[in-house]
Amino acid sequence: MRFRHALVVGGTGMLSAATMHLCRCSHRTTIIGRSESRLSRFRSLGEGVEAKQVDYTDIARLEEELNSIRARAGAPDLAVCWVHSTAPQAIDRIAEITGSNEKPGRFFHVQGSAIEEPGRRPSPSETRLRALPNVIYRQVILGFAGDHGNSRWLSHEEISVGLIEAVQLDSVKFIVGRVRPWSDRP
Ligand SMILES: NC(=O)c1ccc[n+]([C@@H]2O[C@H](COP(=O)([O-])OP(=O)(O)OC[C@H]3O[C@@H](n4cnc5c(N)ncnc54)[C@H](OP(=O)(O)O)[C@@H]3O)[C@@H](O)[C@H]2O)c1
Repeated sequence: MRFRHALVVGGTGMLSAATMHLCRCSHRTTIIGRSESRLSRFRSLGEGVEAKQVDYTDIARLEEELNSIRARAGAPDLAVCWVHSTAPQAIDRIAEITGSNEKPGRFFHVQGSAIEEPGRRPSPSETRLRALPNVIYRQVILGFAGDHGNSRWLSHEEISVGLIEAVQLDSVKFIVGRVRPWSDRP
């Protein structure tokens, strides 16, 4: 697994270990987050890593920054996106600058377990992403762990290990932990 340009959005919290791993195995990595102190830990990894302070709810600023990243470092061949569902426009903008029609990039969309609720239909955002010619859409769903009657949310380590595995396996849909039976959800 070696990417020419990995873009990670929302990877400086619970996904920090996975983001570190991607920095080490990518020629270039661009990281987007808000907190300067969190971003600075990644900058020290070397000159192949660029960490940009952008609030992804400011769509105009995000778009400007993404265009500038693409002009400078080329289209990402890998995007990892943990963006709260309150900002679907941000997800669309990130997907739009990933890959190209000739050479689609991998787009790993990290989502919470809520999207696996029985009977739930795909969101308009998911449907749009799947139809984009420039991305190969991948889903990473964060489930839960533990035994029946004793279930719990995943640790940060479990989440990062799961994401790395999902990228390595290039799974269309990868569930970290489990989401069934739904009644076990903590
Ligand atoms: N299934 C599960 O087990 C599961 C699933 C989801 C969450 N969780 C738990 O819930 C906790 C809280 O979740 P969380 O989403 O806060 O996770 P988080 O990964 O700790 O933080 C969110 C990430 O998104 C970035 N971010 C958030 N809002 C942003 C914005 N407007 N613009 C740019 N970047 C932004 C944050 O950067 P900044 O800090 O710089 O803003 C950070 O990198 C996690 O620590 C985890 O333990 C568990």
